[in-house]
Amino acid sequence: MLGTLFGRKAEFDLFSAGADDCHDFSRLHGERFYKGWGDGEFHSLLTQSSVFGFSARDTNASDRDLGGFVIAREAGGEAEILTIAVSDKYARAGLGWRLMLAAIREVRARGGETLFLEVDEGNDAAIGLYRKHGFKKVGERKGYYSDGRGKTSTALVMRLDLR
Ligand SMILES: CC(C)(COP(=O)(O)OP(=O)(O)OC[C@H]1O[C@@H](n2cnc3c(N)ncnc32)[C@H](O)[C@@H]1OP(=O)(O)O)[C@@H](O)C(=O)NCCC(=O)NCCS
Repeated sequence: MLGTLFGRKAEFDLFSAGADDCHDFSRLHGERFYKGWGDGEFHSLLTQSSVFGFSARDTNASDRDLGGFVIAREAGGEAEILTIAVSDKYARAGLGWRLMLAAIREVRARGGETLFLEVDEGNDAAIGLYRKHGFKKVGERKGYYSDGRGKTSTALVMRLDLR
């Protein structure tokens, strides 16, 4: 069980992401990030062999509502989470955890030994999620993010060792 929508319990299954997901990913990304990525950006990522992702969809809903997704890249043993987003409707119901777990398993399956990501130092939800998966802070990039109104913030660089 994950989340309740209009009195119905939403149940999500995870699927490998493909080009068909680009529009839905772009829409959810735009809802969750200041700078959204367009369908074309998702398409150019998801058609690269080093890039993979997973969607979480409500398979009981006729529209197979997108609850969240993750996209990552693995090359030469090193991997990175490119983005992850969960719909606000289903926040704190474990979807982010499941999506990260799927990405970590796929990185391992592809022979990845280290997994990196960047996260805004003020993003408590994401930092909590990454710490729960064992990621540790290994660096920071000051002024890395901008909110578009002249305010910048620091990116934490986090790493998960898979060896
Ligand atoms: C970050 C995000 C993906 C988490 O997704 P989620 O499905 O709500 O997370 P989960 O329910 O799986 O939570 C897993 C853990 O993350 C942490 N967490 C999640 N939401 C949190 C919050 N609001 N505050 C603090 N910790 C939080 C907790 O450790 C939680 O475990 P717990 O519920 O047992 O305490 C989601 O908030 C999101 O899409 N945010 C906007 C996009 C974004 O910031 N992406 C990351 C960019 S680096």
